Amino acid sequence: MGNLSAFFLTIFKRHKKINTSERLKEVMENQSSMEIPLPSMINGNDVFHSQIPPDDLNISKSKLTCNIIHNHNFSNGLHSWHANCCDVFLVSPSVETFDDHTQNPCKKKHHAVITNRNQHWQGLEQDITTRVSSGSTYTVFARVGVSGMHLEKEANVIATLKLEYQQSETKYLFITKTTVSKEKWEDLEGTFVLSDKPDRVVFYIEGPAPGVNLLIESVSIFGDGEIAPCVYNQEGNIILNPEFEDGVNNWSGRGCKIALHDSMGDGKVLPKSGKFFASATERTQYWNGIQQDISGKIQRKLAYQVTAFVRIFGNNVTSSSVRATLWVQGPDSHEQYIGIANSQATDSDWVQLQGKFLLNGSPSKVVIYLEGPPPGTDILLDGLMVKHAEKIPPSPRPVIENPEYGVNIIANSNLSDGTNGWFPLGNCTLNVVTGSPRILPPAARDTLGPHEPLSGHCIHTTNRTQTWMGPAQMITDKVKLFVTYQVSAWVRLGPGATGPQNVNIALGVDSQWVNGGQVELNDADRWHEVCGSFRVEKQPAKVMVYIQGPAAGISFMLAGLQIFAVDRQARFRHLKRQTDKIRKRDVTLKFSTSDSSSIHGATVIVKQTQNSFPIGSCISRSNIDNEDFVSFFIKNFNWAVFGNELKWYWTEPQQGNLNYKDADELLKLCNDNNIMVRGHCIFWDVESTVQDWVKKLNKQDLTTAIQNRLTGLLNQYKGRFKHYDVNNEMLHGSFYPDRLGPGSRADMFKTANRLDPSATMFVNDYHIEDGCDPRSSPEKYMTQILDLVQQGAPVGGIGIQGHIDSPVGPVVCSALDRLGTLGLPIWFTELDASSVNEYVRADDLEVMFREALAHPAVEGIMIWGFWELFMSRENSHLVNAEGEINEAGNRFLELKKEWLSHAHGHVDDVSEFGFRGFPGTYEVVVVTGSKKIVKKFVVEKGDLSLVVPIEF
Ligand SMILES: *[C@@H]1O[C@H](CO)[C@@H](O)[C@H](O)[C@H]1NC(C)=O
Ligand SMILES: *[C@@H]1O[C@H](CO)[C@@H](O)[C@H](O)[C@H]1NC(C)=O
Ligand SMILES: *[C@@H]1O[C@H](CO)[C@@H](O)[C@H](O)[C@H]1NC(C)=O
Ligand SMILES: *[C@@H]1O[C@H](CO)[C@@H](O)[C@H](O)[C@H]1NC(C)=O
Ligand SMILES: *[C@@H]1O[C@H](CO)[C@@H](O)[C@H](O)[C@H]1NC(C)=O
Repeated sequence: MGNLSAFFLTIFKRHKKINTSERLKEVMENQSSMEIPLPSMINGNDVFHSQIPPDDLNISKSKLTCNIIHNHNFSNGLHSWHANCCDVFLVSPSVETFDDHTQNPCKKKHHAVITNRNQHWQGLEQDITTRVSSGSTYTVFARVGVSGMHLEKEANVIATLKLEYQQSETKYLFITKTTVSKEKWEDLEGTFVLSDKPDRVVFYIEGPAPGVNLLIESVSIFGDGEIAPCVYNQEGNIILNPEFEDGVNNWSGRGCKIALHDSMGDGKVLPKSGKFFASATERTQYWNGIQQDISGKIQRKLAYQVTAFVRIFGNNVTSSSVRATLWVQGPDSHEQYIGIANSQATDSDWVQLQGKFLLNGSPSKVVIYLEGPPPGTDILLDGLMVKHAEKIPPSPRPVIENPEYGVNIIANSNLSDGTNGWFPLGNCTLNVVTGSPRILPPAARDTLGPHEPLSGHCIHTTNRTQTWMGPAQMITDKVKLFVTYQVSAWVRLGPGATGPQNVNIALGVDSQWVNGGQVELNDADRWHEVCGSFRVEKQPAKVMVYIQGPAAGISFMLAGLQIFAVDRQARFRHLKRQTDKIRKRDVTLKFSTSDSSSIHGATVIVKQTQNSFPIGSCISRSNIDNEDFVSFFIKNFNWAVFGNELKWYWTEPQQGNLNYKDADELLKLCNDNNIMVRGHCIFWDVESTVQDWVKKLNKQDLTTAIQNRLTGLLNQYKGRFKHYDVNNEMLHGSFYPDRLGPGSRADMFKTANRLDPSATMFVNDYHIEDGCDPRSSPEKYMTQILDLVQQGAPVGGIGIQGHIDSPVGPVVCSALDRLGTLGLPIWFTELDASSVNEYVRADDLEVMFREALAHPAVEGIMIWGFWELFMSRENSHLVNAEGEINEAGNRFLELKKEWLSHAHGHVDDVSEFGFRGFPGTYEVVVVTGSKKIVKKFVVEKGDLSLVVPIEF
């Protein structure tokens, strides 16, 4: 068992902006009771930031496909379905076929015919009471048709929910409808959210006029992944004896024993389902557990979904993470560990473990196993399912009615009406005083343009006995789903208060804390801007905004709080103009012919084949075994960075045990395809990412190890990496200076530069551009860079990682403006955007790409991967696991296309043709008389107009 896997698998997903708090939930549910304390939200955030590095996550818990409809395609007859006051029968395609372009020839599909209908509401129904919960969003996807003598031309087909209550009247919830013409299958698509908990929930399809037959081929309803129970359907399961009905046959212990049980702990532990469960016992290592060999059953490049029920037992451990892991051996005996799923298991109940995986290469051996709890604690397993993942239809583009862009949703924001609309969260005191700025905070001004002045009134909050106490408002009814809100305010510490103190605009969205912007205040002498953004993507029951953060006893003031919907399209128009202005160049093609014949008047067609602006992606060793990945990558990117393969813990997991093989193989692929590469990273200052042997070194040995790392790596790859991230995330960690003193960072830069002067030495950090992390504000980043430069460090570039949520252009741009004053090139080094809705994800990416292209300081954009299941953040992929380009991917390709310049016209009387275009490679076609000549040329980057001689 390699230590390597131990290291990777202990690193889990970070939730950047969201924290859950039961306490907050209580406050939300009982908002009038002000005595309920909230934990310090800001400290909660710190835990997330410092413990979990953002760009190094190997566990991918992608959205699982849980179709809550039983027998969704009638493969099991009419089981689970019920015809309401009418009749239903099944037919196979050979009996009643009509135009069905998507009919899969290898799989004959049945469909249901609902007939003898004499009311429009009669149709086919299924009881889904136990499979839905309130608050979750469900997507309905059905394939329907109509037939029958009484059908005119077309008919409406409607999806409806019937909600029954013991205490009140039955309600009907319209979900969606579609118009279906004769002889055609249509998709019926829609979403619903239950706002309460009915006693019975029935889904049904209805609609056509009496006498018309309703045809249904399939019905799927997918929950949004977190709460939806996965139906335990054994169909397609490749695990043998999954429920231990055949004892522990086909199972074995990985470094431990396994046993069969019908109960444990004096009957306290009973099977989740069926009669038996199994335990992995006498475990002496965290990686010991129960396993099954599934070699030969997994096809490469197919996505599999995994579901299990797990629990822990014994050794006084009440809660521990339990993980499903795949051990894969390649044909060359190369071993790989793939994290599939990770859940917090307890000793008191079964929890569901679920995840997805995909193998890029052809494995010779594959074993799935459970691991995680401390030695001595048993892992219990009841049922394991591994099957080819169902495809989930993507959510439709959200429809936003009356977004009211730019309208402040805060009531009595300017406090002209006392504290009306506001309440103190906790037993603090709110008073309205005067003396605050009368202009809007800059980021709000940038978005909103000219605005009437603020009132000069502010809220002074005193008598705070907890960090979370401050002024608050309920904004539940004002927040629209999927709309990006910009947050902006002035804040200041109260008289006599001393810093540093954080002030945070917090959103309580049901039980979750969402960060709407955060700033660190060091003095009480002046007003500071706090800005940020947020978005809600799931119907909340309650949304509260509250301003919190300073230590208990510290009073603070708030003025001009603005929360408003952002119109991204309006800004895009400005950014497009700006991009044309700063990125394009005037080009004159000067034609000459060898025989001095005239080509005056000839038709010219100029076509750009490639834009040379650096747009790159993160890739990893396993990705390049997948030829589909490679083809998308080399077609669409001209730069690369390796996810982990160059990191110190990867190249030297144990001291002296060097591994450059993975990096070499990636580098070869890039070189062969003319792709430039960033070196990420030589060191990483966040302690949790430092490998054990390095942590154990004394000062002297650590100094030597650092020297060896630098010489080893930079000599090995001299001239091959164009950039190096010298010491990653120095605003979020200080492992090296803590041990070796403040000069150690500058020394790393100096040595690296001496060893490979051809590479640009970068700083690289996260949450620089979004306003939500006071530790990495643009000002702090600038101070750090100037400090390094002062100490002689040859800092040549600024890396902004760009793992962003709900980006707002002007907020990002203002960070770029400030950093841009240093005159160093800025790169987005690890950009990704996460949203379950692909359209929203596409919009976020577009915001970031457009801001970057339109800003003169930005010289390159790297995205942090694009393939589902191979990204560090969930719901951020551009290409689905099995190779289908999704909406976010399509948007990216559209933008790339927009950034190719084309022109056409005629050669003028001085044999020239002028146009304005992006740097890159071009093709020009000149048509004169019957001759057509094609030439290639290159436009280099530059400010001056360029003359390109084209000779024939
Ligand atoms: C599963 O276990 C049964 C019972 O021991 C055995 O007959 C069968 O061969 C096993 N299957 C595999 C693929 O090992
Ligand atoms: C478990 O904890 C209880 C109470 O904390 C203690 O009495 C008992 O000795 C512990 N058992 C083990 C095996 O550590
Ligand atoms: C506020 O509550 C704290 C305890 O939660 C208490 O110590 C303090 O006296 C209260 N202050 C006021 C003004 O009621
Ligand atoms: C303050 O807000 C009120 C409405 O809430 C508005 O009538 C008034 O004009 C505003 N005053 C200023 C100075 O913005
Ligand atoms: C609240 O603070 C103010 C001054 O900041 C003080 O005068 C007042 O007595 C305090 N009230 C309570 C209940 O502590």
